[in-house]
Amino acid sequence: MAHAIVYSEIGTPDVLRLTEIPDPVAGPGEVVVRIEAAGVNPLDAKLRRGARPSPPIVEPRRVGFDGAGVVASLGEGVTGFAIGDRVVIDNVLGTYASALAVPVSKLFRLSDGVTMAEGASLGIPVGTAYQCLRSLDVTKGDTLLVHAGSGAVGQAAVQFAVLWGARVIATARPERFDQLRSLGADPVAYGEGLTERVRELAPEGVTVALDCAGTDEAIQTSLALVDDRERIATIVRGPDAADFGIRAFSGGSPVPLTDEEQSWRQDAIPLTINLIEAGDFQVELGPELPLADAARAHELIERHAANGKIVLVP
Ligand SMILES: NC(=O)c1ccc[n+]([C@@H]2O[C@H](COP(=O)([O-])OP(=O)(O)OC[C@H]3O[C@@H](n4cnc5c(N)ncnc54)[C@H](OP(=O)(O)O)[C@@H]3O)[C@@H](O)[C@H]2O)c1
Repeated sequence: MAHAIVYSEIGTPDVLRLTEIPDPVAGPGEVVVRIEAAGVNPLDAKLRRGARPSPPIVEPRRVGFDGAGVVASLGEGVTGFAIGDRVVIDNVLGTYASALAVPVSKLFRLSDGVTMAEGASLGIPVGTAYQCLRSLDVTKGDTLLVHAGSGAVGQAAVQFAVLWGARVIATARPERFDQLRSLGADPVAYGEGLTERVRELAPEGVTVALDCAGTDEAIQTSLALVDDRERIATIVRGPDAADFGIRAFSGGSPVPLTDEEQSWRQDAIPLTINLIEAGDFQVELGPELPLADAARAHELIERHAANGKIVLVP
């Protein structure tokens, strides 16, 4: 039997439970991945506590969208992957598990130089960061303000923007400044007076802003500093972004991503694997917990109590 984390009611982290599931079987065009690491994202916790709309729970609901592992079996018609291949899973519900059937369109090969934990940390954060910066057309000469630059999405956004030649100012709590500096950003503390602190750091002005924090402060600071509202985006305040005249990418936005934006999210995964191998991108890893401790992982991510990506290991 395989194992998976499930929940049957919306609620606090303790609704998450480890259960036995039948061994997954690869359907046509699918492979079964033996999962070695599952990335924990804030979205997993938001869905669990009902902070994002989802259909009624009619049977135990699976958890997690990001993971990495090894191909264990191949379904009919699968080409391009072989048993034993190391792979990254991108955006398939149910990665908090020991095994999962995955369509090959959601799989990327993981190079030997990238760990399973790193691979499991890529999907949502890296895809989101890359798509947002492409949508905002961030380029050399820009000064980008990233709110929550110390988080998983923020750190990915900082690194892409620096690679593309932009200057990056990123918000964090002061204990996280060294991490941001190591990625090439100028850190600034969030909290009262943020707008003035950013003005001092960037007297030449801020040309583009990405909000990964979702606070009123992040929105108001971006509005005060960036003239062109088409170059302000949030990934958290989707429901009310339009009230401020700014853009939103998912995060509860009623406006769906375009096909191009969706493909950017996928393009980011192999591209980032190559960057990591070349030493040009880093994933900050946080606590590695056993799969059975999924509730603890959700507590940590909801309290912002861990630095780096939390990973569950079956
Ligand atoms: N729309 C989308 O497609 C999409 C995709 C991915 C994520 N998201 C959302 O984006 C957000 C960030 O995701 P993540 O994976 O990067 O989360 P994460 O790794 O858990 O990071 C959380 C970040 O929030 C920062 N933070 C905490 N309190 C803050 C405050 N008062 N002001 C400013 N920053 C504050 C933390 O900074 P310190 O640790 O320095 O305090 C940390 O950088 C989450 O809400 C997530 O659901 C949306």
